[in-house]
Amino acid sequence: MQYSPAEPKKILVTGGAGFLGSHLCEILLKQGHEVLCVDNYFTGNRRNIAGLLDNRMFEAMRHDVTFPLYVEVDEIYNLACPASPVHYQFDPVQTTKTSVVGTINMLGLAKRTRAKMFQASTSEVYGDPVVHPQPESYWGNVNPIGPRSCYDEGKRCAEALCFDYERQHRVRIKVARIFNTYGPRMHPDDGRVVSNFIVQALRGEPITLYGDGSQTRSFCYVDDLVEAFVRMMEDTPDDFTGPMNIGNPAEFSIGELAEIVLEMTGSKSRIEFRPLPADDPRQRQPDISLARETIGWEPKVALRDGLKETIAYFRHLLNE
Ligand SMILES: NC(=O)c1ccc[n+]([C@@H]2O[C@H](COP(=O)([O-])OP(=O)(O)OC[C@H]3O[C@@H](n4cnc5c(N)ncnc54)[C@H](O)[C@@H]3O)[C@@H](O)[C@H]2O)c1
Repeated sequence: MQYSPAEPKKILVTGGAGFLGSHLCEILLKQGHEVLCVDNYFTGNRRNIAGLLDNRMFEAMRHDVTFPLYVEVDEIYNLACPASPVHYQFDPVQTTKTSVVGTINMLGLAKRTRAKMFQASTSEVYGDPVVHPQPESYWGNVNPIGPRSCYDEGKRCAEALCFDYERQHRVRIKVARIFNTYGPRMHPDDGRVVSNFIVQALRGEPITLYGDGSQTRSFCYVDDLVEAFVRMMEDTPDDFTGPMNIGNPAEFSIGELAEIVLEMTGSKSRIEFRPLPADDPRQRQPDISLARETIGWEPKVALRDGLKETIAYFRHLLNE
């Protein structure tokens, strides 16, 4: 993505040492901005930002967003929150706190500094959808008391807070609903389907497939995704709040994904079928018409191209 700002901005990225956050920090630095990465390293890793530490425009700060943060910034990208079920269910109370209290703290900071704020929301706000594909106008079908509720309801509350700060305090907000994303720097043990399959295939372990494999997902490559984040922040008018779906509408069944991963890794692993976990959605596909119309964005990286990079990353990681 080519873009040179006339005036570099001071940009805060919470969750900046995580999978998406570290890619975002990289692209913002490439654009000439000053980046403050804030992370408590719960699921993030210093390795993810190791390549940025020598950059004089980059600063990493250990901080938990559930506590107030006093810094001066022009923009905030609020990504802090564990994103995979194994991680967000490890300490569900902390997950809700991170989404709710963390977002209040960041919105408070945005209010005080008049910064524009990007909120990393999620397709999980749609729950187990009865509408396919999901447009932003769909209100969702979410279990409020299940094991995934800390994440789903936490993120829904965070969206509500963004819109209340916008209505009540005129904070400029950009709410993005992110669908499944994959790429280098995903966690090897986060239980998410793409990383799971690749790691199992590379280790020669059985590929664990939940359900019969016919449930579908859409996968967006991380470079496409972070480009959309920046375009939503930079290329939309101040009164454009979202929510806006960002993801790849190309659907694949989980069974198909397992076969592609086996083929591309050359692995001899076998596929092992397991029962579907509670509240697992059958189908999830973004309707990205709004992103197409508003920022002229759509994903460019084909699944096989993205998988090639991701497999290379995990091969290197597992051999270290
Ligand atoms: N990756 C996806 O497919 C996806 C899909 C939908 C939404 N999202 C959202 O995007 C954001 C980033 O996700 P990711 O995939 O990079 O996950 P990740 O777990 O790799 O990154 C989250 C980061 O937030 C940090 N963090 C967690 N709690 C914190 C706290 N209290 N204070 C400070 N830092 C904290 C973690 O240490 C980590 O570095 C999350 O908000 C997630 O909900 C991701």
